[in-house]
Amino acid sequence: MRRFTILSLIILLLSGCGWSYATPPVQPALASVTQDLSFVTATVEIPIAPIPASASVQEIHRGVNFGNMLESPNEGEWGLFVQEEYFDLVREAGFDFVRLPVRWNTHAEQEWPYTIDPAFFSRVDEVVNWGVERDLTIIVDFHHYEEMAWDPWSHKDRFLGIWEQVAEHYKNHPSNVFFELLNEPNDQLNASLWNQYLVEVLEMIRETNPTRTVVIGPVNWNAYDWLSTLDVPEDEYLIVTFHYYLPFQFTHQGAEWAGEEAQKWLGTSWGSDAEKVEVVGHFDMVAEWAERKNVRILLGEFGVYGRADMEQRIRWTTFVREQAESHGFAWAYWEFGSGFGAYDPSAGVWRDGLLKALIP
Ligand code: BGC
Repeated sequence: MRRFTILSLIILLLSGCGWSYATPPVQPALASVTQDLSFVTATVEIPIAPIPASASVQEIHRGVNFGNMLESPNEGEWGLFVQEEYFDLVREAGFDFVRLPVRWNTHAEQEWPYTIDPAFFSRVDEVVNWGVERDLTIIVDFHHYEEMAWDPWSHKDRFLGIWEQVAEHYKNHPSNVFFELLNEPNDQLNASLWNQYLVEVLEMIRETNPTRTVVIGPVNWNAYDWLSTLDVPEDEYLIVTFHYYLPFQFTHQGAEWAGEEAQKWLGTSWGSDAEKVEVVGHFDMVAEWAERKNVRILLGEFGVYGRADMEQRIRWTTFVREQAESHGFAWAYWEFGSGFGAYDPSAGVWRDGLLKALIP
């Protein structure tokens, strides 16, 4: 039995509350099991074999999100344009893939056939090719299609229509271009709808891209504890993703988009034994689910917003990254050069501590 499975059992027995995938573990109960944390450290140090998966997907390991670039309503509006040199920087730093969030929906017509603006398509091509030329895997991720969450019934046809064009467009691209169907489905796009839609969009993509790796994730913002609601289609070329920003009050302290409350979270620290045990428990749950489903896992986003203390950010990022690796998950840091940035584009330097937290 794997080390993390034993750990889960210990936590489960001691906490006396068999948690379900839909119910995160209860904090106070965890406190009682955290007197001696040596076993947590041991979990990190003992290499755990990658999750066995029949999937024929290409291996990816360490990645970074090119966030706040092509998923802002128009590139540049959130302060960053993708630069070719960014790909050299991430390659040299030791990352092997880039997740590229793209807001296709603000660059496509509202009515059928939902034509994607050719100028925008060329720009995405340019960026994708910069990565491909450097032998980096690129995950083309459909990001911030907010109307899909607010009114999925009215937008489903457009969602499929946009994917049809993207799939056709990249069908002859090398296999290290991956597709991610939809970032963080949420709100009205519930599990039962999403499970239907993703089968439809996947079947359509398979007509032109029978073996391309496709990334899918659960509803409720790709939360780890909603994986159990995801019906994984029979398909050898799938990766399942989840995002991890817990505790949210810590990772999103001061985040302007997280509401006024988030200003009060400034100064929140992280790193107690109980908090570490909680992260381990969450990752164990994901690994156990993945093993049952025989799928590979991508931790597609994790990070701490830049208004938190740097030492604290480094501590959390190191721990979460180590947990991903010891559980056999690929990971992509959120994000390259903006509010969570591992790189400081105005100074033209990596934030050394954060980079080392990711690539020691
Ligand atoms: C969103 C970003 C946000 C990040 C952290 C991402 O999925 O697209 O806008 O900064 O999560 O909250």
